[in-house]
Amino acid sequence: MSPPTIYKFGKLPRHVAIIMDGNGRWAKAKNMMRVQGHRAGAESVRDVVKAAGEFGVKYLTLYAFSVENWKRPKSEIHTLMGLLETFLRDELPEMIKNNVRLQAIGRLSDLPENVRDQLHACIHATRQNTGLVLILALSYSGRVEIIEAVHSIIREIKLGHLDSAQIDEQVFNHHLYTRYYPDPDLLIRTSGEMRLSNFLLWQLSYTEIYITSTLWPDFRRQHFAEALIDYGNRQRRFGSV
Ligand code: IPE
Ligand code: IPE
Ligand code: MG
Repeated sequence: MSPPTIYKFGKLPRHVAIIMDGNGRWAKAKNMMRVQGHRAGAESVRDVVKAAGEFGVKYLTLYAFSVENWKRPKSEIHTLMGLLETFLRDELPEMIKNNVRLQAIGRLSDLPENVRDQLHACIHATRQNTGLVLILALSYSGRVEIIEAVHSIIREIKLGHLDSAQIDEQVFNHHLYTRYYPDPDLLIRTSGEMRLSNFLLWQLSYTEIYITSTLWPDFRRQHFAEALIDYGNRQRRFGSV
């Protein structure tokens, strides 16, 4: 086996978010079932999570299932949920070994009970880990997240814990699922689609975007490294000169 490539990064993004897209197209191109694309995609998740930790990325958010994805055929949803449960169960020892802390965002109550139980077990088992924070977006919708934040703010006002005049970006941020994490510095979307698909609408306001035509099941450590190197050459201005 050849030794692993040593990459030289410029400035590294602290938080990378990925829209893992193209599993279906990958399978179709190989005359396989979509399900096999999802299975191959799980391998990419393993590889990229490992690489992210090794490269020194602090937060990695993966868009694994959107609220809109519940519109897919029942059989595909069933497979995806099964893969998720298997992934969580099989990867737990690896997450512990690699000091990964697992977190999840989204409408988690939508998930089947077995998946939810496994998810909470992994979150609990890795809660003391201090390395990469791996955040899975599950039954996630950026618009739902914002609406839920509004409801939560209204509740606080009604309870007298908050004055409406105090609402600013920081307060609002505090009511989002992502309140514990910094905004993503880099967003990667695989398989060439140029859209956000309802992902982190609030949080991506100043995120650098990297779109690659590589399909998710083909996306591995070296593709991830290429995205990080590209990010290192970006000039972020945040509206100033
Ligand atoms: C991404 O691949 C996986 C999920 C959205 C769950 P897709 O299943 O969307 O693959 P394409 O876009 O049809 O190729
Ligand atoms: C976005 O991919 C959601 C996830 C990767 C989980 P989709 O395949 O669902 O997005 P659209 O439908 O192409 O916008
Ligand atoms: Mg897709």
